[in-house]
Amino acid sequence: MLDAQRLLDDLDPAVERLLERHLATSKEWFPHEHVPYGRGRDPIPGEQWSVDDADLAGFELSDAVRSALLVNLLTEDNLPYYFRTVEKLFGADGAWGTWVRRWTAEEGRHSMAIYGYLMVTRAIDPHHLERCRMAQVSGGITPNPETLQDGFAYLALQELATRISHRATGKLMGDPAGYDVMMKVASDENLHQLFYRDLATAAIEADPDGMMVGIERQVAGFSMPGIGIPGFNEHAKRIAQAGIYDLSVHHEQILVPIVLRTWNVEQVTGLTAEGEQARDRLMARMAKSERVARRLAERRPTPALV
Ligand SMILES: [Fe+2]
Ligand SMILES: [Fe+2]
Repeated sequence: MLDAQRLLDDLDPAVERLLERHLATSKEWFPHEHVPYGRGRDPIPGEQWSVDDADLAGFELSDAVRSALLVNLLTEDNLPYYFRTVEKLFGADGAWGTWVRRWTAEEGRHSMAIYGYLMVTRAIDPHHLERCRMAQVSGGITPNPETLQDGFAYLALQELATRISHRATGKLMGDPAGYDVMMKVASDENLHQLFYRDLATAAIEADPDGMMVGIERQVAGFSMPGIGIPGFNEHAKRIAQAGIYDLSVHHEQILVPIVLRTWNVEQVTGLTAEGEQARDRLMARMAKSERVARRLAERRPTPALV
């Protein structure tokens, strides 16, 4: 396993290439252009919110979709801690630092757009949202990958998970303006996952052992970045029941395409005994995750959403 500085140095050309690709592909957009301000009204301080206050262009939201919107926004609100983690892993210099800052700037737009939409439409309780945000950001609990290699693996999985969750939530919203906000955010997350996924691919080549250990650990212990949110387990249950995000989605749409297809972990060469053992554990875990996914998919009430 390579030490972090050596791996960062080895990956300098890769990060430069991926940063350039990202800058060439991503398009400028403005959160305010996606918020339906015409539906807003002045707040009444202290007023208790109720479901009937919402203006969703004639559509209704299920409790599960409301949970998903709350969790997705609070996840974006926790950005200061993701920035801290990623800058600690990558450093502030050169293309690494340029990427971290650019990525942070893009992530900042996500909460602005979702928050704007939720406030003008009154789709969820604004007092509850703000109290949850205060609790979550004051707590500062976020997944903290222990090595650079773990970080590469986690970031790729997490960005794709976030993309899937935003997309699936948007598809269940009915309101075209809400759908549009979630798709816009999801398309940013897609570019982020491509960056981290391909960075991890380059890291596998440079340090197959370290990456295999990191990937195995992150697949084993993966949790969505929303773990610090008050009532997270309850929300996660609802979100899973609605088919927005559950272990089956996680397996079929994240682990299989990234770990098995893109990283092609079965075919990685150059492993020592430590790396081989990690791969064995990883493959056993993938087989188990497939069994769980299949069982869940059979019970799922709605067809796959993404
Ligand atoms: Fe985001
Ligand atoms: Fe992202």
